[in-house]
Amino acid sequence: MHFSTRILLLASAFAFTVPALADNATPVKIGVILPMTGPSASTGREIDAAIKLYMAQKGDKAGGRKIEIVLKDDTGVADITKRLAQELVVNDKVSVIAGFGLTPLALAAAPIATQAKVPEVVMAAGTATITEASPYIVRTSFTLPQNTVPIADWALKNGVKKVVTLVSDYGPGIDAEKAFSERIKAGGGQVLDNLRAPLRNPEFAPFLQKAKDLKPDALFLFVPSGFGAQLMKQVAERDFAKEGVKVIGTGDVTDDEQLQGMGDAVLGMVTSMDYSVAHKSPENKAFVEAFMKANPAMRPNFMAVGGYDGMALIYGALEKTKGDTDGAKLVDAMKGMSWVSPRGPISIDPETRDIVQNVYIRKVEKVDGQLYNVEFETMPNVKDPVKAAKKAK
Ligand code: DHB
Repeated sequence: MHFSTRILLLASAFAFTVPALADNATPVKIGVILPMTGPSASTGREIDAAIKLYMAQKGDKAGGRKIEIVLKDDTGVADITKRLAQELVVNDKVSVIAGFGLTPLALAAAPIATQAKVPEVVMAAGTATITEASPYIVRTSFTLPQNTVPIADWALKNGVKKVVTLVSDYGPGIDAEKAFSERIKAGGGQVLDNLRAPLRNPEFAPFLQKAKDLKPDALFLFVPSGFGAQLMKQVAERDFAKEGVKVIGTGDVTDDEQLQGMGDAVLGMVTSMDYSVAHKSPENKAFVEAFMKANPAMRPNFMAVGGYDGMALIYGALEKTKGDTDGAKLVDAMKGMSWVSPRGPISIDPETRDIVQNVYIRKVEKVDGQLYNVEFETMPNVKDPVKAAKKAK
């Protein structure tokens, strides 16, 4: 072979192998945006702790690439989420954005995910339509209709006919209100009123008084994670049980992170949710023990599990693409993924990119002197009912 041809061949071999080697040697950056301060700081703390736990357990490599987390605090303000998402994509060159503690925050980042073709893994927010805001959004938390329909069915089965709803006045609250009210009406029940309290600095007293005056069989509640203690304190002051009113809700209200501090007034409250720290499975036992060993002052809640599974999703996708961080390939790899989470078996619906999971009916009980949401019924493999209904049309 002529010497110059050999040089040329060597050079072209390098042209193919060198960038690939360099690429595998560069870490994959994941931009995590969470409310680490402000009224939803508990969501940020829980998810951050779960991400750290996942990496401590599984290592900092996936698909042959080193994984690096870049954590940013959006304080729960959507304009800040959007700016941080932009900076993470443009300056830090992250391959995935993840976190998103509230619906408006998840929605604020969606146009950036679409433009930059970067997967957005929603680990917390729960408004049903979020996954429709970008084809790059994949969710590991829950949707409010998914978690709400089962408690409406439970209420109907338990003799509830007349209901009042009280929710936080924004996306997930309105989703919960609609899902609950429509299901009750379809089951022959009656909705006496739909009450909405502001998300920020809510004053629940006038709404609770109104609900009591209407004398329903049940009062349905939704507030986001971190707001339940404040609501339940005011509920306790009004002794609904004495009037024969069942107080029910989604498990966001009896959040494991705050439940212990709510006191005996919440004993017996029935809710539905995708996760309880008291879920009985070997996977959850191992998760809770490891989480509490690493964070002795904290109990993992549904937010922590959303974060832990979000990491499992990202690691799993990178394994499938063998470290290729192309956004469309990662999202494709995420579609249809299934695994056993601390909450039970879960999968990503390939059509909607939403999570399919069991929803549990639970009752607040005291176990070994501590308050827990004890599961007593399981609705298996629940899809988001809003998107399922749209598809059926
Ligand atoms: C949302 C936030 C929460 O903390 C929660 O428990 C449910 C929904 C949200 O903003 O989507």
